[in-house]
Amino acid sequence: MTRSKVRTAIFPVAGLGTRFMPATKGTPKELLPVIDTPLIQYAIDEAREAGIARMIFVSHPSKAAIQHYVMDDAQLRTTLVHHGKAELAHKLELAALDRRDCEVIFVMQLEPKGLGDAVACARPHLLDGPVAVILPDDLILGVPGCLRQMIDAYDCDIAGHLIAVMKVPWALTCEYGILSVTGQQGRLVFADSIVEKPTADVAPSQMAVVGRYILDPAIFDTLAKQGPGIGGEIQLTDAIAQSGLIKGIAGFRFSGRRFDCGSKQGMLTATLFLAQQDPAYAEVLATYNIP
Ligand code: G1P
Repeated sequence: MTRSKVRTAIFPVAGLGTRFMPATKGTPKELLPVIDTPLIQYAIDEAREAGIARMIFVSHPSKAAIQHYVMDDAQLRTTLVHHGKAELAHKLELAALDRRDCEVIFVMQLEPKGLGDAVACARPHLLDGPVAVILPDDLILGVPGCLRQMIDAYDCDIAGHLIAVMKVPWALTCEYGILSVTGQQGRLVFADSIVEKPTADVAPSQMAVVGRYILDPAIFDTLAKQGPGIGGEIQLTDAIAQSGLIKGIAGFRFSGRRFDCGSKQGMLTATLFLAQQDPAYAEVLATYNIP
């Protein structure tokens, strides 16, 4: 596998998943499936394709199922083989994160203090160089994957922080980090700041952050000093705005389709979208007049 100039990826997965309760009382939201594949698997596959050497999961002790899921389960595979399901066992082996594949580290974020705090928890485990952050809630289907596209476009001389963005209606700016745009060049959107979840009347643009970031490591010094922002949480967006004054900020308009799988509508849309690609579901979809 080609090693990447971005070697570390952080997966913040400690959240309570309140929007999916009661399901998330027993199952971490990152393990909720789109058809048969948990959200975390899409995120892992995207990081793998991007050549990430170390994956750091910032989790919570109540979400041990994530650790169980992402690591290989040789005993389960043996059982499957004994039951004549060697193909399925092989599929699980390929999906799992094996330490030969890349390094895997779990750290715990004990209190829900915000995305910025979650990212800061990974600091002792970083490899040198810029760091990727992947929010598994944002399922992005693209070829190549969004992170691969971003790493190919990343140039720290242009901007230290590169953030996946898409245009949203003004009514939705209050759900996203929003860039204060200064110019565009191809897929790059230059910005002099970024603001967390502004209402339409104060939003600086319609350019919204989705859950893929490549961050200059200077962000960690900023996060260490960062006070709470909107919602009383330590916001990654605020730290990007602050350190972006020195390191520079750019958005990246990725190609591919993004689903907000932090919402029930987004999960359903993603499920229908993927079902439409597979003839096995044609009859079910036809029943509901879905072409
Ligand atoms: C987080 C970020 C926000 C970003 C969003 C993308 O918000 O804080 O800036 O736009 O992810 O999904 P959350 O959706 O976790 O509230």
